[in-house]
Amino acid sequence: NLIIEKLFKPKSIAVVGASRNLEKIGGVILSNLVKNKFNGKIYAVNPSAKEILGVPSYPSLLDIPDEVEHIVVAIPAEKVPEIIEEAGKKGVKVATIIASGFKEVGRADLEEKVVNIAKKYGIRILGPNVFGVVYTPMNLNATFGAEHIHKGKIAFLTQSGALGIALMHWTSMEKIGLSSIVSMGNMTDIDAIDLAKFFEKDENTKVIGLYLEGLGTGKGHEFIEVFSEITKKKPVIALKAGRSERGTRAVASHTGSLAGSDAVYDSALKQAGVLRASDVEQLFNWAKMMAFSESFEINGKGFVIITNGGGMGVMATDASEFNGLPLLEVPEELKKEFRKTMPWFGSPNNPVDLTGQSNVQNYIEAIKVALESELVSGITVMYGEVAFLDPVELANGIAKTLKEYNKSRKPVNVVMLGGEKTKMGTEILEENGVPVYPIPEKAISSMAALYKYSKIIGKANLKI
Ligand code: ACO
Repeated sequence: NLIIEKLFKPKSIAVVGASRNLEKIGGVILSNLVKNKFNGKIYAVNPSAKEILGVPSYPSLLDIPDEVEHIVVAIPAEKVPEIIEEAGKKGVKVATIIASGFKEVGRADLEEKVVNIAKKYGIRILGPNVFGVVYTPMNLNATFGAEHIHKGKIAFLTQSGALGIALMHWTSMEKIGLSSIVSMGNMTDIDAIDLAKFFEKDENTKVIGLYLEGLGTGKGHEFIEVFSEITKKKPVIALKAGRSERGTRAVASHTGSLAGSDAVYDSALKQAGVLRASDVEQLFNWAKMMAFSESFEINGKGFVIITNGGGMGVMATDASEFNGLPLLEVPEELKKEFRKTMPWFGSPNNPVDLTGQSNVQNYIEAIKVALESELVSGITVMYGEVAFLDPVELANGIAKTLKEYNKSRKPVNVVMLGGEKTKMGTEILEENGVPVYPIPEKAISSMAALYKYSKIIGKANLKI
């Protein structure tokens, strides 16, 4: 595992095939490393350049007058074995092999050749057939994907390259914070299990997301064993594709993995305590909730919804029932407290309806009541945009209230449904560590995922 650490925290990295043409794959990888200001030394290997983007370039790995711990190999498949041989002589610890053209196209022989050379020298391999690896605590972006990554606590491991690259762009736009993104490709050596073991211990990662199509043959038991341990410490959320019969066949022609029966995977994921998301957006919705939560301990007698709209309240109530999130039956005493926080025509039942005429102060008071009651397990605060209540002011009010009064670290999330200004409100809240969702169902499903995880690790002490 010490060697796998070098994948993420190398002292020095060399891009073999760092093209002078910055539109070629090797050129983009070098450029992403340079522009993200990698916290280590960068070298280029190119037969004809002395320097690319200010990075010293050498004709061969063996010419680099320094130790190299991690190489990213961006030259055609046929030439990879000789590079790994050189890497072995150079004392390289880990190689990320970008090239396609191995097992996935029937060249298992070439892949095996590379693996054998690597084994001879004790080099670990990520790939082949990958877009690379990102580790934001080190400003490491050794990929040919998006240049900008939003930093955070979610590590995302993907068996699909194109999906991973698309999600690099999407998470950046949505400001979803990542500690890492790893393209796993053919998983000829380093696989999801090895990577998850690293992230289990990584202090910069709070939650692991996994896009999986299949495991190597005979890996099922190891997966359950290892992930059962990891999920005791950190939540793992998986999206396992190839659920339908046709989907299974599509997997075979994509990564060549045996997708296996979906029921088998479903039961393995459950046994391992891995949460299963049904789509990528849901995976990141849940991951965001986990990444922003300070504690996975849940007490009280049920969850509370605070809203300024009856309709949104009903939607959230339905979603709670469908997702197994227990809502609090508000007792008379607490109703009295909630009633003081709203206009006379509001409702102190759960959902607590502050009405469309509520102001920032109403929200703050209602949130305080919910935070201070021992009965309340967690809170979803919902806001539908109305003319008289500015979402930016509300966001500032909510953030400040949570900072001051959420002493027992109850899980809280927010819904901001509306236009441009709600986007600004969303940013303010998320900068303050409060997860925000655009519609009630997504917030409730994410709160329910947190509750489910809390149950998995035996930290849900609800007295219902
Ligand atoms: N050592 C160092 N540099 C070398 C060597 C060598 N032995 N041989 C060639 N180079 C240099 C080349 O001179 C070139 O640099 P230059 O442009 O300055 O002259 C550079 O390395 C690249 O070599 P090319 O032969 O031009 O290779 P090209 O960039 O066309 O393709 C690549 C290489 C990207 C690895 C390609 O073969 C490939 O496999 N592409 C697919 C990658 C992929 O999709 N991976 C899966 C990702 S996941 C997904 O689906 C998105």
